[in-house]
Amino acid sequence: MEIKLYYILALVVLVIDLSSYGICQTDEDLGKAASFIFGDSLVDAGNNNYLQTLSKANIPPNGIDFKASGGNPTGRFTNGRTIGDIVGEGLGQPHYAMPFLDPNTTGRTILYGVNYASGAGGIMNATGRIFVNRLSLEIQVDYFNITRKQIDKLLGPSKAKEYLTRKSIFSITIGSNDFLNNYLLPVVSAGTRISQSPDTFIDDVLNHLRGQLTRLYQLDARKFIIGNVGPLGCIPYQKTINQLSENECVQLPNKLVLQYNARLKDLVQELNENLPGATFVHANVYELVMELITNYAKYGFKTASKACCGNGGQFAGIIPCGPTSSLCSDRNKHVFWDPYHPSEAANLIIAKQLLNGDPKYVTPINLRQLVDL
Ligand SMILES: *[C@@H]1O[C@H](CO)[C@@H](O)[C@H](O)[C@H]1NC(C)=O
Ligand SMILES: *[C@@H]1O[C@H](CO)[C@@H](O)[C@H](O)[C@H]1NC(C)=O
Ligand SMILES: *[C@@H]1O[C@H](CO)[C@@H](O)[C@H](O)[C@H]1NC(C)=O
Repeated sequence: MEIKLYYILALVVLVIDLSSYGICQTDEDLGKAASFIFGDSLVDAGNNNYLQTLSKANIPPNGIDFKASGGNPTGRFTNGRTIGDIVGEGLGQPHYAMPFLDPNTTGRTILYGVNYASGAGGIMNATGRIFVNRLSLEIQVDYFNITRKQIDKLLGPSKAKEYLTRKSIFSITIGSNDFLNNYLLPVVSAGTRISQSPDTFIDDVLNHLRGQLTRLYQLDARKFIIGNVGPLGCIPYQKTINQLSENECVQLPNKLVLQYNARLKDLVQELNENLPGATFVHANVYELVMELITNYAKYGFKTASKACCGNGGQFAGIIPCGPTSSLCSDRNKHVFWDPYHPSEAANLIIAKQLLNGDPKYVTPINLRQLVDL
């Protein structure tokens, strides 16, 4: 009798123990697609809070409309949710993918996805060095390699592989800083610009990107969404320093970005053909944002040129958003939150297109279809 009781207790303890390691995680839990988010400040959810860096957003009024923090700053470079947050909600994920560097990102939490994005980060290692520290794409993939091993431990190798190949979405939102905070930087990069034509610079960037995407594939990533670079010549910062009028955009950045984007599209097609079992979705962020900027009134915006939070010049585009910035009163009527980043209202429109949109913006399938593959 006593022996039987002992066995029952041992079994109970074993079950509790296994469930705490995630082995008994319900199918319902794992049925939700997990997001692994790579990128720059457009999708950083707080990694830079843990770095010694000049690129930080954990100061008010950033996050003023972010409900999950009660309007407190989180390190997101916008007033509310990022595109990554909204997409995660749309896919039914129970909470936002946590920043990799947050000490609370441990245990089963990682099974709902992890965010590796970092303000000022780029595809090239050297990008953003004027901000001192930031996570370049290569380091972000190194960090995913750490997460990968933790997932093996949580689920066991075969379930881990299935979870990564079938349930996980890998989004990559990066490249803006390789232009803004690398190739186009005055003084710092003038030398590079003289010694390297746009074509060879773009070659370097895409070769490096191909290498990092291939590493993710080697680590069992199969469902990818790759955003191209937005119209950098139209952000309040560029329009202000070049003293443009309201409906103009700076030509050189947009020209370079379009050149890069065309080659990126080829790369996405190449990877679809060369990496068996992988699907790479291409998101035309450039066209989407350009549509919002050109036809802003149609989407309920009042301005697509002036930053809601910022200071300096006609478009509040010189001094980044912080406690002493001027702040607009109608935040959801501005396409741009600050001199560089879209508002939550703009992010919502972009994210909905990625989730449900048509081939004009997402090819060959949209995110919902990617999840269901
Ligand atoms: C981690 O979680 C604990 C408990 O929920 C919380 O008190 C703490 O603020 C969190 N730390 C961070 C850095 O979010
Ligand atoms: C980028 O930086 C990482 C980490 O410092 C280093 O290991 C790697 O060799 C660098 N890659 C290139 C292409 O410079
Ligand atoms: C992941 O890390 C291991 C070492 O822990 C290394 O052998 C392997 O090459 C790494 N994989 C990638 C794709 O970087």
